[in-house]
Parts: sequence; structure tokens; C-alpha cells
Amino acid sequence: MRFDCLLHVGDFGVWPDPRRVDKATRRHDGAGDFPRWFETKREAPRKTIFIKGNHEDFVWLDAQPTTDILPGLHYLRNGATFDLTDDDGVIRIGGVGGCYGPTNYERRSASLQGYSKRHYTQDEIERLAQVEGIDVVLTHDAPAGVTFPRHRQGDGWVSNARGLDVLLARARPRVCFFGHHHTRVDAEVSGVRCIGLNKVARPGNLVAFEMTAGRRDWRLLGEWP
Ligand SMILES: [Fe+2]
Repeated sequence: MRFDCLLHVGDFGVWPDPRRVDKATRRHDGAGDFPRWFETKREAPRKTIFIKGNHEDFVWLDAQPTTDILPGLHYLRNGATFDLTDDDGVIRIGGVGGCYGPTNYERRSASLQGYSKRHYTQDEIERLAQVEGIDVVLTHDAPAGVTFPRHRQGDGWVSNARGLDVLLARARPRVCFFGHHHTRVDAEVSGVRCIGLNKVARPGNLVAFEMTAGRRDWRLLGEWP
């Protein structure tokens, strides 16, 4: 099976300088391949669109003059959209990366510095909610209301990531994908199908779907491993 495009829900591991890697990333997989890819300006194997997670070099990402980080690798900033075009028209992807942080949620996104940038803010949600015709929403955290049958916080834990549920209610995308919780989970929030993806290499970390521009229906093709 060949995919036209890859959408990534954050914690992509953008660490151009391995010395800046945060503690959690150092404990897990480290800086990975990104420094080498960036140094050689290597092209992504297929068009890839990613949002930030809570483990990236946010300061570096925000300082980039363009959202095309590498050829074929597009950073979808919080509150922004990316239009994929096919023969039938446009499939619009909207993104809110980072996780929920009660202390930063009501602050202005432009005022967040350094590690605080791991949180999304209300003004970013507001910006995206005003955009028409969004087909797919990518969030890093799970929209408030998503229930996890199994979770490290306890079985049956319910996400409290405020604002993401409001975003779905207003933007009415066809589907929402999220990550962060290292669990493959299905839910419905504000009438929108939400698909939680697992950590890389774990069951359900990769889900394939097919979507045609200008229609509401879409279908899941499969998932791996
Ligand atoms: Fe995360």
C-alpha cells in the first residue's frame, strides 16, 4: 500500500541540537535521526505534516523562518491549517499541538517562552475554530471527554484537555487524531470520531485512512503493527 501523505500527532522528536534534548527524550530514544537529516537537508520520503508534541525543541521550531522544516516535512503550527489538494479539491488539516496545561491555557500564546511552549492556549484554539472547511484535526493531547479504558493514571481515566472538545464542536472535522497517551483508543467527542494513536512501534501507532475532498465520508483502511 502506498500513502500520499503522512500526518503525525506530535512528539516527532525535532531536536536539531542533541545537547538541547529534554530529560524525558534522553531517557527514551534520544535525539534520533533528526540532527543528521537536518544537516543534510534530507527530503522526507513522502509529504509529512506534523504538529508539536510536548517533547520537541519548541524554541527552535518557532524560530524557523518557514514551516517547511525539510523538503516535504511541514510543521503545522498551533491554530494553523494546511491544505492538501487532490483532483477533487482540498482536504484541510488543522492542528493544535502540545498538551493541556491549566497554568498556561488562558495566557496569550505569544507570551509563552521556552518549556511553556509545550502547552497549547485558548487563543490558538479560537483561531482554528474560526476556519471553515476543516476535514481533519490533529491534536497532541486527547480532547476533553475521551475515556481511556486503560491508562497510566488509572483505568477509565477521562481526558481533561480543555478547549480541544470545544474546537471539535465548532470546527466539525470529519475525524480527529491525537497521541500523547501511548494508547490506541477510539472515542467520540462533540459528535466527532476521535482516534488516539499509540507510541511508535506499539500496536496501533499507525492508522491508514482514505478521504476524498468535498465529501463527508471517509474510511479506515487498516492499522499497524
Ligand atoms: Fe506527548
